Amino acid sequence: MQFSRFAQRFQQDTGTVQLMDDLGKARSAPPPVYMLGGGNPAHIPEVEAVFKEALSEILNDASRFGQMVGEYDNPQGNDAFCHALANMLHEQFGWHIDADNIAITNGSQSSFGLLFNCLAGQFPDGHFKKILLPITPEYVGYADVGLAEEDIFEGHRATIECLDEHTFKYHVDFDQLVIDPMRHGAVCVSRPTNPTGNVISDAELTRLRARCQTAGVPLIIDGAYGLPFPGMIFTDAKPLWDDGIILCLSLSKLGLPGLRTGIVVADPSITRLIRNANAINSLSPGRVGPTLAAALLQRGDLMRLCNESIRPFYQSKVAHALSEVRRAMGNLPVRVHRAEGALFLWLWFEDLPISSAELYARLVKKGVYIIPGHHFFPGLNDDWQHRNECIRVNYAAPNDVVTIGLNIIAETVKNAYDNS
Ligand SMILES: Cc1ncc(COP(=O)(O)O)c(C=O)c1O
Repeated sequence: MQFSRFAQRFQQDTGTVQLMDDLGKARSAPPPVYMLGGGNPAHIPEVEAVFKEALSEILNDASRFGQMVGEYDNPQGNDAFCHALANMLHEQFGWHIDADNIAITNGSQSSFGLLFNCLAGQFPDGHFKKILLPITPEYVGYADVGLAEEDIFEGHRATIECLDEHTFKYHVDFDQLVIDPMRHGAVCVSRPTNPTGNVISDAELTRLRARCQTAGVPLIIDGAYGLPFPGMIFTDAKPLWDDGIILCLSLSKLGLPGLRTGIVVADPSITRLIRNANAINSLSPGRVGPTLAAALLQRGDLMRLCNESIRPFYQSKVAHALSEVRRAMGNLPVRVHRAEGALFLWLWFEDLPISSAELYARLVKKGVYIIPGHHFFPGLNDDWQHRNECIRVNYAAPNDVVTIGLNIIAETVKNAYDNS
């Protein structure tokens, strides 16, 4: 079969494809399987109980149920949800927004596909602009969304601060950062960062915002794990938004990835683009996620679940995972990125004698799924050895799975060092 040039981007097994494919393969692989890859959030029983209760109220209301499943939604997104969310954001954080500043997509992955292609690529004035990623490692899912033939990302190396013998933290290298409106259509950062669990501080974010403002370039904040919801942040970070910021949120990491709902909070010039793209590409975004989320907001459950259930749950998961890393890997040259949020540990094996891709392959043979680090450097075109020395471990799985998986990783890495 012959395909168009457009199809070329779907003919390769990129990092994102590997990530999603592994989730599927692991489900049907012969046991034992230790799934520490993928980006699936945990099933938190008390949170799922509230989702069920809110959904059953909707199911029992003939009019709400009928609209949810039987009518296309507004292409910019569900009116009731957009209004309720704008009110909440205004009341809780004082942001000057209304429903016009909000647009709904079928998951934030689709928000990024659209935003990046609208803000990067060939511009009518002849400039080719890129999305500047001021800190890599950064989310693998960005890497493949560009429609232009040229790479649409410019990734920058993070600087590394070693905090103690086994802990480190990445920072934005402001000295090397040049934001140029002729070359950059937007700056984007995930906060917390997937894969590292880094949360760039309020001070760093404010500085980045100021640099973007001076350059007249929008700042995209990917809050898929962050603020205001689902709030999987263990540091003292505050949410930030103003009309030069495009804040991308999602219902996925609340525990609702199956509902495929993304939320963009931005200037109306952006939300209108999304409305039109929704109408053209899918007539309207899905309606189940926003209907449920509107109900959660009305019941006062959304932020309560984040503060009382979701954040404490992941705090206890990360404490377990870190203590297991210390136990299993104390004698290895491993450093862990300070776990400040999301649901991942980012392990750096200094001078690892095999590549992270080879480590991944050896682990899959033993039933352990992680994501090798080299995928997480979109737009970084240098030979930074660091990218081959890191892996990402999702700690949302049950504790015994995390423990056994980390033991097998420790044994496999030790074996690699011993035989080098
Ligand atoms: C940092 C980050 N942004 C965005 C997404 C996309 O999430 P979704 O499309 O489920 O909203 C993910 C998914 O894992 C992510 O890790």
